[in-house]
Amino acid sequence: MSPARTIVVGITGGIAAYKAVGVVRAFVLHGDVVQVVATDAALRFVGKPTLEAISRNPVHTDLYEGVAEVRHVAIGQSADLIVVAPATANSIAKLAAGLADDLLGNTILASTAPLVIAPAMHTEMWNNPATIANIATLRSRGVIVVGPGTGQLTGSDVGAGRMAEPETIVAAALAALEAAGSVAEPAHTASAVEPDLAGMNIVISAGGTREPLDPVRFLGNRSSGKQGIALASAAVSRGASVTLVAAHLEVPPPEGVTLVPVATALELETAMRAAAADADLVIMAAAVADYRPVSVRDAKIKKEDTGDTLTIELVKNPDVLVGLSADRPREQVIVGFAAETETDADALLELGRGKIARKGCDYLVINRVGWSEGFATDGNDVVLIDRSGDIVTRASGTKMLVADRILDAVVTRPSA
Ligand code: CTP
Repeated sequence: MSPARTIVVGITGGIAAYKAVGVVRAFVLHGDVVQVVATDAALRFVGKPTLEAISRNPVHTDLYEGVAEVRHVAIGQSADLIVVAPATANSIAKLAAGLADDLLGNTILASTAPLVIAPAMHTEMWNNPATIANIATLRSRGVIVVGPGTGQLTGSDVGAGRMAEPETIVAAALAALEAAGSVAEPAHTASAVEPDLAGMNIVISAGGTREPLDPVRFLGNRSSGKQGIALASAAVSRGASVTLVAAHLEVPPPEGVTLVPVATALELETAMRAAAADADLVIMAAAVADYRPVSVRDAKIKKEDTGDTLTIELVKNPDVLVGLSADRPREQVIVGFAAETETDADALLELGRGKIARKGCDYLVINRVGWSEGFATDGNDVVLIDRSGDIVTRASGTKMLVADRILDAVVTRPSA
């Protein structure tokens, strides 16, 4: 087992503070020494004795305690990693401004350790331009932002802003520790050696959405998320800051991305719109359900009630790619995917040309899918076209290689 490292878990004052107990516990079980630094507001949501029992250490809150030992500097210097979970909108603003009016702010300023934050707030606060700008500032300084996810918030409302689950936060934190402590992984292709995407903010959707019919059933598709994950992985290893909007991935997401889990097409739309607001490049690799059931039953549909045939009425979902393309900031490049079962190469290309014209994106990755092609496989065979319908590149091989070819093409070429 690796030697114990010191992880400072900063807890700020949001209702999600109760979930921070899970984060602390996971690090302790992992064999790390955990020092909890909680704000006064955090202790209104979760008790100090609980945190002390779980962390097996005293919990620090007060800047003016332990002055003789210069506690904020001591904690900051001892940290191998700092994780702030939950990070409220207020604490994010303070971090972005470099404020140090409490022990946590001082500890963070006094530390050179990697910083991971897990935002948690209401959707309106997350989407507020001030928060968006603060998050962009923190990301530009190398802070790793985990989540937030989309889901049930504290009240009856649903939206983006829910703190990522403790296991997701811990996985991202351990990945950050690993990245900080080890020599970079060998690059997967020659073109990936250079961090040529450093400074870019890339948002990628991956996986397949699911539209619930009742509490136990859904309408879904066979996308595994592998190509979107390969794109995210390639972009991270080339130095980009990557947000992965993930709908039911069948394989684990790569380390180093900001993960935003979603379930339905509507959730994916909300998450993509929020994440894409300050993105340089948006890639819609997810398979999005075109329709959802008009009504979702509260109880399981019983065949005694439905009989020999069952008709389900569906309503069209928004086309996320069309919306993003129409409302994009200037200079943003948008890449769509086209999943087609057409077997004739020329006809496939024509379908792609029609699709890019309808979608309004800059590039389209045309991807043949079938019972044994495209989905859940490790290889892929794609044609990338631009808005004029011209072929920019073809790529065939592992999804990782295809990912690098797509990034090479859409980043180095000005959009058509
Ligand atoms: N897409 C989207 N929102 C939808 C449907 C699709 O954003 N409601 C995006 C996909 O992520 C992909 C592109 O649009 O980048 C094309 O998806 P595809 O399934 O190939 O095409 P559809 O638009 O669904 O059209 P059709 O089913 O007629 O082929």
